[in-house]
Amino acid sequence: MPIQFPRYIEQLKPYIAGKPIEETQREYGVKKVIKLASNENPLGPSPRAVLAMKKAMKELQLYPDASGFHLRVALSKLEGVSFDEIVLGNGSNEVIELLIRTFCVPGDFMVASDGVFAAYPISARIQGVDTLFTRMTQDFRFDLKAMLELIRNTPKVKLVALPNPNNPTGTYVTESELVEFLTEVEKVREGSVHVILDYAYWEYVTAKDLPDPIPLYRRFSNVSVLKTFSKIYGLGGLRVGYGVIRPELAKMVQKVRMPFNVSSLGLIGAEAALKDKVFIRKSIRLNNTGMKKMMAAYRKLGIPFLPSQGNFLLINARQGLGLSGPEVFEACLRMGVILRPIANYGMPDWVRVTIGTEAQNRTAIAAFAKLKKNKKT
Ligand SMILES: Cc1ncc(COP(=O)(O)O)c(C=O)c1O
Repeated sequence: MPIQFPRYIEQLKPYIAGKPIEETQREYGVKKVIKLASNENPLGPSPRAVLAMKKAMKELQLYPDASGFHLRVALSKLEGVSFDEIVLGNGSNEVIELLIRTFCVPGDFMVASDGVFAAYPISARIQGVDTLFTRMTQDFRFDLKAMLELIRNTPKVKLVALPNPNNPTGTYVTESELVEFLTEVEKVREGSVHVILDYAYWEYVTAKDLPDPIPLYRRFSNVSVLKTFSKIYGLGGLRVGYGVIRPELAKMVQKVRMPFNVSSLGLIGAEAALKDKVFIRKSIRLNNTGMKKMMAAYRKLGIPFLPSQGNFLLINARQGLGLSGPEVFEACLRMGVILRPIANYGMPDWVRVTIGTEAQNRTAIAAFAKLKKNKKT
């Protein structure tokens, strides 16, 4: 008898990751390749993290501390919460999966907006949970009113995904909008609908009205906060993220978590990275100046983009360059620049570009200028 896979697994469209540098060199025969495709820190990893991990290499025969003691102590201090409220994950992606597994049974629903970070619907689907989507507003933001309606009207909704800012759009929900939304969601079905505030890009945020999630976490009983070491700390390859989760819920999530989900190097590297204030400041500065320069360059080239609160900009390839997103992606690969097309988000005209070093940004702009010139001739 043939194996019967669950239908939701057979029909699953897997996550499309950024194209690796080495693969691009191999396939396109270009030596010099830059990757602006995965919102990674262009400065590399936190030097303090690297140093701490080098020292820890000598003890790799030992399993990691299953409780993640030292990192959780450091994070509880940073966030001003108790030790029990920190749940570590193999990247914040794993915390997303853990939350879904803990809160839902197959047949339940998650609510999210079109354009939401793709790991949400995929992680849900893997576990037999479908995502109900609302349309984005005209300016590519979440329509919280429509989301609230959907939550109220669908009894089996257990989770709401709210990355702020969102990736790949870079758009955000303001403090007043979020407070109003959370106030209403808390009233639905006796507070049983849980909202995931995903702040993977929090350190990059410059908008004054994009709220700190921790006061909201304290104020509302049905909110968890996710953060990651993959962005500002430059440790995407290490796979460490965490959730700030109420103790009584965190206790449940901890049961679902496998004991060694974060490696010993992960625990040590992340803890050291937290102390690397010089590197964090430098990374923020680089992003701020890079973001301004890229926006100015896009304006000059006549390429529309969405204002972003992350370390990336979404540009309209169709309007700006007369090509689809995947076409610009392909053309740029040939010039040794890896970008991220987002047709899988239902946005085939757009391409996401991570803010890089000054030199990388210049290379990307030169590639776009070339495409623009080709368009005219
Ligand atoms: C909004 C958002 N959340 C979470 C993540 C996952 O990060 P990680 O699993 O590396 O912590 C990303 C990564 O791009 C993201 O954009």
